[in-house]
Amino acid sequence: MRRVGIFPGSFDPPLKCHLDLAETVMNKYALDEIIFAPILAGRGDTKDNSGYTDRVCMCIASIVGKHNMRVASRETPSSLLPTLKWLRKSCADARLFCVMDYSLFSGSMDKLAGKNAYRDMVFICPQQNGDQTGFTRQNASLCGLDLEMLPFGSMDEAETEARHMVFSLNDPKSMPAGALKICALKGLYIQDHYQDIKNGMSEHRWQHTLGVRRSAVALAEKYGGSLIKCAVAAFYHDCAKDMNPKDMRKVLLDHGTDSRDEILHSGAMMHGPAGAILAEEKYHVYDREVLDAIRYHTTGREEMTLTDLIIFVADAIEPNRQDYPGLNVIRTLADIDLYAAALYSLYMTRDYVFERGKIFHLAGQKTITALEDRLRNDRNLDRAAVELLREKSSVFN
Ligand SMILES: [Fe+2]
Ligand SMILES: [Fe+2]
Repeated sequence: MRRVGIFPGSFDPPLKCHLDLAETVMNKYALDEIIFAPILAGRGDTKDNSGYTDRVCMCIASIVGKHNMRVASRETPSSLLPTLKWLRKSCADARLFCVMDYSLFSGSMDKLAGKNAYRDMVFICPQQNGDQTGFTRQNASLCGLDLEMLPFGSMDEAETEARHMVFSLNDPKSMPAGALKICALKGLYIQDHYQDIKNGMSEHRWQHTLGVRRSAVALAEKYGGSLIKCAVAAFYHDCAKDMNPKDMRKVLLDHGTDSRDEILHSGAMMHGPAGAILAEEKYHVYDREVLDAIRYHTTGREEMTLTDLIIFVADAIEPNRQDYPGLNVIRTLADIDLYAAALYSLYMTRDYVFERGKIFHLAGQKTITALEDRLRNDRNLDRAAVELLREKSSVFN
């Protein structure tokens, strides 16, 4: 007879400790497979926790490559008992081992009691040293339920902590990489200004924004940046782009920009700094690293952070970008070296400006000089990147 583990829970979000617990149970009880079954969170799917479908997606992303784990998904979210009934039915010929949080078990014990469907299941609850579970165990046995306690570290509050970390724009180390990526890409657990941003820009700009978020998360994954910070910076990076230039100018002057500053001469240059102000004051983004990446996403700056670079390059290469001179080279360089990709992108912008007989901004020129200095002194710089940069500048000869 197949031995199947079922693991109902809110998985809001799924955590590495859930996977560790599943592995431990699989080994201890010699299970053939374990099925994660996201159920409706106890407090319901409200604004501050993710919806059922998002949690199913995060669970699926968490177990990629684990062949003896799968995720049960139903058309509609359900509470614990219907989920268990449904799993019992769909695994009719298997011996079931149900792993669940101790509080979930003790809170549902009276409903599980005396039901034939649950009599042959083994319920396994993780137990922390010193947990007072004697009374529940006694009751479970009186109710005809087979309960086993498994020594395991605490999972209490771990989901809440992970949600709070994302809310404060940090990557929780407790989340599996796949789940964190979905979380960043969908903007889960952060302040929700989705409709506001969408309504405040053209459809074209909105698609660009989503494309930048996708590219920024991919680059953060590749180069070890913060997925959450990069996703949020990307989401707001063009929030001021469709503003009237006069209004943008006023916002910047009201916030201390010198009236002689070169950025006030063009909407293209103003929308970065204006966007950072808007992100902070209207959308309550307070993370300095995120705000700086928004502020400098057009010109760059002399000391670019990893988040700055990721947003700068993602903006240039996002998949919805219509072809422009140099795009393919920048995409290639983005795979090799972020500094080189940013520099090549600035070279292309400078060429574009010069071809139109205009003056290239000083801020961009300062960034070019700083990036050139850095790359010239980088002995590990990929040869292909050097060759590509050499086409644009003699400093690499
Ligand atoms: Fe922009
Ligand atoms: Fe953009």
